[in-house]
Amino acid sequence: MKYVVTAATGNLGQTAVKELNKLVGAENVIVIARNTDKATKLFLNNEVRHGDYEDKSSMIDALKGIDRVLFISSQPSDKVDRATAHANVVDALKENNIKFVAYTSFPDAQNSTTPLATDHRLTENAIKEAGIDHSFLRDNWYLENEIGFLQSGAANHDALYWANNKAGWALERDYAEGAAKVLTSEDPREIYEFAGKTRTYDELGKALQEATGNHFAIKQISHDDYVKSLEEAGLDTPTAELFASFQAPIDSGSLNKESNDLEEVLGHPVTPLVDAIKEVLAR
Ligand SMILES: NC(=O)c1ccc[n+]([C@@H]2O[C@H](COP(=O)([O-])OP(=O)(O)OC[C@H]3O[C@@H](n4cnc5c(N)ncnc54)[C@H](OP(=O)(O)O)[C@@H]3O)[C@@H](O)[C@H]2O)c1
Repeated sequence: MKYVVTAATGNLGQTAVKELNKLVGAENVIVIARNTDKATKLFLNNEVRHGDYEDKSSMIDALKGIDRVLFISSQPSDKVDRATAHANVVDALKENNIKFVAYTSFPDAQNSTTPLATDHRLTENAIKEAGIDHSFLRDNWYLENEIGFLQSGAANHDALYWANNKAGWALERDYAEGAAKVLTSEDPREIYEFAGKTRTYDELGKALQEATGNHFAIKQISHDDYVKSLEEAGLDTPTAELFASFQAPIDSGSLNKESNDLEEVLGHPVTPLVDAIKEVLAR
């Protein structure tokens, strides 16, 4: 059985490849990357193939002779919109009669109203329409997204946020291990809502106080004041607005999805939040 990880050079992909190597042996794990130089340096024991989601023929070639695919969603790009790039991947999966695909999606992708879910819903639908056996790995929020908040507390500065509501933060390596386990599972389910325990920013801040031993204030401020605080820290306005927008799916409740799926698939608890924070801050 031959396994592939696409977009393997990203943070999630790198850990997923390591996990798959442990589970099935590196000789059975092929890496697809748009930047093969980067991939060759990262993956010394895996076959590396070139595949760019924006170039369908490269994906058709890269997927030849493969049985199971971990299809990692890409980042939005200016050149080709992400839904189209993902549709190229689905066409390439179909063309190669791939037996099974696990796709990294978005929480409750079929019903979610946040704009971030749109590409994922379209990609899920394209996979279903293509008739390929699949699992949708609906990853909640990466703890790594909160690096600014975490570093503020670590420096004993106020930890600021604007979003109400909760997110199911977990380390990317926990999501990656879950993805590898689903990909190698004999009887995968169609949908996994992967998440840590759901928490508010205030709860995240308290865990950060425990992880750092610091006694900074945890403050909710308005969205506009949050943007201003980022500008005062040196960001230009578009970047400050972009960073602030990362909290919008939390504020809208789109990530407030309690689920034990990740823990069940891992076969052990998700990394406890205080330990996970220490790990991110130590990098
Ligand atoms: N749930 C969450 O909290 C959350 C947060 C952020 C992102 N995400 C999603 O999860 C995915 C994985 O996260 P990550 O941390 O691993 O992201 P990342 O480190 O930014 O990696 C993104 C990966 O996508 C690859 N890629 C981008 N465009 C591509 C294309 N056209 N063709 C082929 N590969 C392409 C990149 O290749 P290069 O190495 O060549 O750039 C890289 O390997 C992201 O891409 C995004 O869809 C989820």
